[in-house]
Amino acid sequence: MTKLQTAHTADLETATLDAARALLYSVFDDFAEDDWEHALGGIHALVWEGDEVIAHASVVQRRLLHCGHALRTGYIEGVGVRADRRRRGHGAAMMDALERVVRGAYDLGALGASEEGAALYAARGWTVWQGPTSTLTPTGVVRTTEDDGWVYVLPVSADLDLHGELTCDWREGDVW
Ligand SMILES: CC(C)(COP(=O)(O)OP(=O)(O)OC[C@H]1O[C@@H](n2cnc3c(N)ncnc32)[C@H](O)[C@@H]1OP(=O)(O)O)[C@@H](O)C(=O)NCCC(=O)NCCS
Repeated sequence: MTKLQTAHTADLETATLDAARALLYSVFDDFAEDDWEHALGGIHALVWEGDEVIAHASVVQRRLLHCGHALRTGYIEGVGVRADRRRRGHGAAMMDALERVVRGAYDLGALGASEEGAALYAARGWTVWQGPTSTLTPTGVVRTTEDDGWVYVLPVSADLDLHGELTCDWREGDVW
């Protein structure tokens, strides 16, 4: 039996957050503290199997600059399902919950995909950004060429030119 929980970071117990963080370290080879920090401060979706967290994802608010607008963006972070529990619909169940938040509260959804993640998001109707990506650093806009082709968006109310430039707000660690 599994159970899906959604809650703001502020409403999760420390032990639950620790379990989610440990899960993500086990799921990604290159997971780092910055990545965990990026997943905090918004709504988490967690899949519980008994008293174990077997899947995690979250949505946090960011600003993405596009065509002169600072779009209020629900940005998906920390999507991971325990290796022995994949292809059972847990990723999709978490995305259902987080996309509801994105559609209800933001101008668009966005995320930086891994190869495996891209298959999940594409299957759900997310669209790969086709234009150049960049980030607004403290000293100006810098292109993020390595992220071109890996940024996915879920349009909600924003007018988007998918071939235009998309610039994310600045943060430490991976900016997308
Ligand atoms: C990506 C990930 C979260 C998917 O979780 P999951 O629970 O296995 O996904 P689901 O079972 O809900 O898959 C839903 C649909 O997404 C697509 N999909 C998911 N994983 C896929 C894969 N590896 N290859 C192809 N399609 C995939 C399929 O259409 C699938 O439906 P189907 O199983 O009926 O064919 C999981 O593989 C994972 O944790 N990977 C490692 C970490 C990672 O890359 N996270 C994404 C970071 S952006």
